[in-house]
Amino acid sequence: MEKKKVGVIGCGTISGIYLENMIQKFSDVLEVVACSDLFPEKAEQTRAKYGLKKACTNDEIIDDPDIDIVLNLTIPAVHHDINMRTLRAGKHLYSEKPISLTLEDLNELIEYADAHNLKIGSAPDVCLGPVPQTAKKLLDEGVIGDVVGFTVNHICPGNELWHPSPDFLYKHGGGPLMDMGPYYISDIIALLGPVDKVCCFKSEGSLARRPVWDHYVDVEVGTHFAGTMKMKSGAVGSLTMSFDVWNSKLPYMEIFGTKGVLRLPQPNMFGGKLELLRSEKVLESANRFTDMVERRDAIAADVVENFVEEVPLVYDGWFNMRGVGIAEMAKALNEGRDNCLNGRFVRHFEEAIMGLEISAETGEMYMMKTTCEKGTPFSL
Ligand SMILES: NC(=O)c1ccc[n+]([C@@H]2O[C@H](COP(=O)([O-])OP(=O)(O)OC[C@H]3O[C@@H](n4cnc5c(N)ncnc54)[C@H](O)[C@@H]3O)[C@@H](O)[C@H]2O)c1
Repeated sequence: MEKKKVGVIGCGTISGIYLENMIQKFSDVLEVVACSDLFPEKAEQTRAKYGLKKACTNDEIIDDPDIDIVLNLTIPAVHHDINMRTLRAGKHLYSEKPISLTLEDLNELIEYADAHNLKIGSAPDVCLGPVPQTAKKLLDEGVIGDVVGFTVNHICPGNELWHPSPDFLYKHGGGPLMDMGPYYISDIIALLGPVDKVCCFKSEGSLARRPVWDHYVDVEVGTHFAGTMKMKSGAVGSLTMSFDVWNSKLPYMEIFGTKGVLRLPQPNMFGGKLELLRSEKVLESANRFTDMVERRDAIAADVVENFVEEVPLVYDGWFNMRGVGIAEMAKALNEGRDNCLNGRFVRHFEEAIMGLEISAETGEMYMMKTTCEKGTPFSL
């Protein structure tokens, strides 16, 4: 299979796992040839560490006729500029999230790519991982019946507690919705199809200045959101996204069906257990009793929990498969087909996230303007 040549822009925290995976796991379809960073010494360190051909400037990557795909791993504030320059240079683009910060920018990007027959892909690629792919198969087979709802919850005290340069997480394009929302919402859309409308509130109690390592950062974004989403399928879901809360017992992600429940692990990594509760198993057990009290006890929450089973996954992945999305895009280019995380999919999930933010800002429901197909089945 033809290897697509990749130039990486942005040699920060997340670049390590991308480079490792692209070089060690996806070298059948990708060849990383160059890297650049705002700080040339970071690019040079990355070049030396991963044995790349050259460390250079962004423009040298974007204008290099040998490079097929630009992988943009910079911070959100500069994503759109680099992304548009990449497309205008006639190159395919794979960007870290959020691919754009506004709906206008998002539309400009997707329309330009479509008009010029260029491929766009964007992180997160977690919906290609073995857990969501197995969940998708079960949902398509009707194992939990008709989906009536879901809940997604990312509740943590803030990524500045571990990230070495976290200021961007509190600037426009950051916050729990823009930073962590993409994992949850791209998974939900891949599993349940497009969103119809969203509604959201943000807490007024969050800190306006946050202590970050040795300084304070002025917070430009909401840091605690509670929202709801109505899917085109009719299913409705709730969402809590927080960088303000130390701990919670809310599940990361649950999908509620008329015949059962699917419970997914934290979606920003590729590992974890997929759990399934089948109502028929609970009913089988409860039906042994005719006494009302015994039946009620047989369906008590702690008893029902015993019927939860771990589902074998459809393929063996590994804990951090970041880069699988750009590898799949390279394969799609070779096969002349659409990539799984294509522009329509990316635009729709990013619009849903922006819609939640707009609703939290305006106090009004946000009606979605774009749509997309459900996620495509994938396996390594
Ligand atoms: N850190 C993570 O765990 C993680 C996980 C998933 C996704 N992401 C996403 O990846 C992106 C990068 O995050 P990060 O954590 O690696 O941030 P980071 O700050 O550690 O790295 C960003 C890098 O981009 C460089 N950069 C900034 N502006 C640039 C420009 N104009 N041209 C070239 N280089 C530039 C910086 O010098 C830095 O080396 C963000 O969009 C983030 O949301 C990060």
